[in-house]
Amino acid sequence: MNPLVNKDVFPGSGRSAYLNTASIALICRDALSAMERWQHELAESGTLSFDEAAEATVFDPLREAAGRLFNARAEDMAVGSNATELLASVAWALMPAPDANIVSTSVTFPTTIYPFMRVARHTGSEVRLAQGNPDYVRPTDLLDLIDERTSVVCISHVEYASGQLFDLELLARVTHEHGALLIVDATQSAGAVPIDVAASSVDVLVTSGYKWLCGPFGVALMYLAPHLQGTLDPGIVGFRSHDDMWDLNPSRMELPDAARRFECSTMAYSAAIGLARSVEHLLEIGIAEIFAHNRSLADLLIDGLRARGAELAPELKNGERCSIVSARFVGCDAKDLARHLNAHRVAVSPRGDVVRFSPHLYNDAADIERALDEIDRHGD
Ligand SMILES: Cc1ncc(COP(=O)(O)O)c(C=O)c1O
Repeated sequence: MNPLVNKDVFPGSGRSAYLNTASIALICRDALSAMERWQHELAESGTLSFDEAAEATVFDPLREAAGRLFNARAEDMAVGSNATELLASVAWALMPAPDANIVSTSVTFPTTIYPFMRVARHTGSEVRLAQGNPDYVRPTDLLDLIDERTSVVCISHVEYASGQLFDLELLARVTHEHGALLIVDATQSAGAVPIDVAASSVDVLVTSGYKWLCGPFGVALMYLAPHLQGTLDPGIVGFRSHDDMWDLNPSRMELPDAARRFECSTMAYSAAIGLARSVEHLLEIGIAEIFAHNRSLADLLIDGLRARGAELAPELKNGERCSIVSARFVGCDAKDLARHLNAHRVAVSPRGDVVRFSPHLYNDAADIERALDEIDRHGD
């Protein structure tokens, strides 16, 4: 099986068997040098190079690339500092009523649901979580929680620990039939799983930049469906929220009729510059190609792990898998094994009683073999 990208495009990928993108991605050489160049220029010239016009348009390349990534327009995209902040702003914007409910899963990443839990604490609305076992959440259990009082269904497209992938079209259909909105946290899927926000008709999608999009810390993206762009009042606002950010008139706050109404202030701008380059790079390769490559690596890994007696989420069906593979080794502590693997430069994460492997485009079959060999050596 051939590598999808040359090892020197992602310099870090030649230094380890890096199977931990679900935690933090490696960054490509291009994105890193774009960030370094920008930061260097700013440090030496300040506003002489980064003037007000440059600051007002600094997100344009990223919004444009992100629009192409999700089959949306650039004006449907907003840039923030992290997924948590964007989800919090959306949760306060929607503020479900006291008699409303919010639906998610019991195994979702806390960030996906905490902002809504916080709002629910404020308003008295109900949070309903479909119970996972924890390797699997039955989609019907999730759908059964949605009723005419549901205001928001907020899920992680891919569950961070098990790797379970949800069908967005199905979820959107049932959510909309009940008059609710579908909010998707795509932090564990964007960049690795094809996403078409128009075809799946999600209402809001948020993703962090430092996982499958191969960006740095400090930047995140949000898609806001056109029908919400003139009405949804962000929970977090600042001088950049105004349609013309340099208006600087505190007596008025005119939000643009575009997703960027959720952009509120300054941020680590170099991160946005780096992420734009990373997303462009992923698009040049093709997300469908990346998905197929990653799934092949996951299949190799699954065969090798099964041959070694590991327990893998048995209920995950083919269409519910991405490249996150979580394995339980009977009689072997997940933290111990993860420590051993990391010490031998096979990067993985322990999550509860499983070891999570998460290969991405810069991995190849040799990385999987390295991981399996190292598992064999553990406890020798
Ligand atoms: C599904 C999911 N959402 C959000 C986050 C955190 O995003 P951020 O650090 O940008 O707030 C994580 C981190 O692991 C995650 O797995």
